[in-house]
Amino acid sequence: MLTKNLSRLVLLLAAAGTCTMAAGQQRSAPPPGPGLKLINERCAFCHTTAQVLRVRKTPEAWRTTVRLMVDRGAELSPSEEKVMINYLNTHFGVRKGKQR
Ligand code: HEC
Repeated sequence: MLTKNLSRLVLLLAAAGTCTMAAGQQRSAPPPGPGLKLINERCAFCHTTAQVLRVRKTPEAWRTTVRLMVDRGAELSPSEEKVMINYLNTHFGVRKGKQR
């Protein structure tokens, strides 16, 4: 029985290894944070979170975009809006004249 358990363990480890590798290969796994949670919860029923995070914007442009999406039906309180815009600017923003 020990061999059976051992081979199961090896399989498990192999599977875990594959997952880690897959995650590492994803070029831009979004940094975790309350902003990401909000995007996943409130923005991802019309398009994917990945679609939101593919673009880079200036702080003004992110504010405009988030407001536009709220107008379209995303549910965000003013404070949640602030958290999200902060997150987007920190991780997916562009400074004027500097493209990431
Ligand atoms: C009611 C549906 C809906 C919700 C909810 C929604 N979006 Fe959108 N979004 C759209 C549609 C439709 C488009 C494509 C048309 C366009 O580009 O304006 C889009 C496009 C985008 C784009 C790419 C275009 C651009 O302006 O760069 C971004 C970024 C974006 N949404 C962000 C968000 C964020 C952030 C949220 C959450 C606050 C959100 N969306 C919630 C409907 C929605």
